[in-house]
Amino acid sequence: MSSKNDSNAINRRQFIRSTAAVGAGLIFSPEIIAQTQAGDKPDDINVAIIGVGDQGRILLESAVKIPGIRFRALCDIWTAYNQQNQSRFLKAYKHEHNVYVDYREMLNEEKDLQAVIIATPDFCHAEQTVACLRAGLHVYCEKEMSNTLEGARQMVLAARETGKLLQIGHQRRSNPRYIYCYEKLLKEASILGRLTTINGQWNRSVAPARGYPQGKGIDEATLNKYGYKSMEQFRDWRWYKGLGGGPIVDLGSHQIDIYNWFLDATPKTVVATGGTDYYDRATHQWYDNVMAVYSYETKNGTVRAFYQTITTNSSQGYFEVFMGDQGTLVISEASYRGQVYREKAAPAWDKWVKRGLVIAPAEKKEEKTEEPAGVLADVRESPKPDEYKLAVEMTEPYHKPHLENFFDAIRGKAKLNCPPDVAYESAITVLKVNEAIEAGCSMEFKPEEFKV
Ligand SMILES: NC(=O)c1ccc[n+]([C@@H]2O[C@H](COP(=O)([O-])OP(=O)(O)OC[C@H]3O[C@@H](n4cnc5c(N)ncnc54)[C@H](O)[C@@H]3O)[C@@H](O)[C@H]2O)c1
Repeated sequence: MSSKNDSNAINRRQFIRSTAAVGAGLIFSPEIIAQTQAGDKPDDINVAIIGVGDQGRILLESAVKIPGIRFRALCDIWTAYNQQNQSRFLKAYKHEHNVYVDYREMLNEEKDLQAVIIATPDFCHAEQTVACLRAGLHVYCEKEMSNTLEGARQMVLAARETGKLLQIGHQRRSNPRYIYCYEKLLKEASILGRLTTINGQWNRSVAPARGYPQGKGIDEATLNKYGYKSMEQFRDWRWYKGLGGGPIVDLGSHQIDIYNWFLDATPKTVVATGGTDYYDRATHQWYDNVMAVYSYETKNGTVRAFYQTITTNSSQGYFEVFMGDQGTLVISEASYRGQVYREKAAPAWDKWVKRGLVIAPAEKKEEKTEEPAGVLADVRESPKPDEYKLAVEMTEPYHKPHLENFFDAIRGKAKLNCPPDVAYESAITVLKVNEAIEAGCSMEFKPEEFKV
């Protein structure tokens, strides 16, 4: 992990200017430039947001700090709480906007919008995204693209038909640390050697129902109109079939998307197990623990990739580990995790250190541990690998670079880092896990399944 004190560490702005970032998508596209519409200033973009719950709030907090972004409309069905709170937030930032309950009314009334951010529960994404694209807007839609493959497919098709931009909220795709790991460590240096194995997880502690402030509930008729049976379901939509996809979709989608990205591949098979073993199945319809193993056929050979998410213990939090015959990369969105380890038998990494790709371990005094006479070293133990630090740090809010990439793409200054075809591959990779658990057998992915 790099810290601000590392003289070799470079920050995000420096990195974005580097060739790696250009390779990752910062190029000019005449096609995209043609789609750009004029605001008051040539670069200004009029934006709406649909869904201002936990994630909508986080996106707003980043977006209001991006120059030239003007929120003109806010839509949320929870008038007494989220809608009111986030409207107040926008006013404090001097974004004059109209407020709506129904996104269809917003689309009918607002004729001056160019883009919309969608951060509603997963089951709303397909309908709202397709309608917004058809209304001529560029869309930033949160992950998971949809809770159904058919929904995700409709989104890909609508983006294609309308020619509007659709960015899916897999924000690690714009995170400079992840881009550097992909472009520099894996592609340029092949620092890990032949990749063989991936391990990843997102573990969380036991959590109570989300609840809601007393007196701030939504009436039953409104809840029903928008697809919810009760306030409990409205708040804990992630756990309900038909609304969300459970932790494997909610959390796993972020990280399994990285497996596909870093391997430049989609998986061939998945075996998975899971269940609702701890919580009440009436309120936790999706599995509260899932363990899945994918197998990938890459151009360098087979890679097996494990993923676990449990909701009863937070041990080790969340991370992804990529293992090759010459080294290991440990990476996470959490900034405290980010190391590379060189296998003792691998060629020296001095040239990568010199080129600033990784930061060398601090000099350590050789500790001599004399074996007592007659005791042989344990030959089963591999020598401990050397730990190197990543040369790029992420110093901004996690979602800001991904939003910036979306707005830059609208302005014709960038190519989307997570366009719908890419996100669709990730959606099928993740949604198949729930199918595999239900079917109780190994599931195969056919290459044509990844194409719309
Ligand atoms: N990228 C990330 O790191 C990240 C993190 C968390 C959540 N998410 C995603 O963001 C989305 C929202 O998650 P959240 O945690 O904010 O959920 P949430 O329940 O906190 O918020 C959802 C908001 O949408 C509103 N809403 C519900 N149905 C609506 C409708 N039909 N029209 C308009 N508004 C509606 C609700 O009133 C609420 O304010 C989900 O897709 C989730 O997967 C992404």
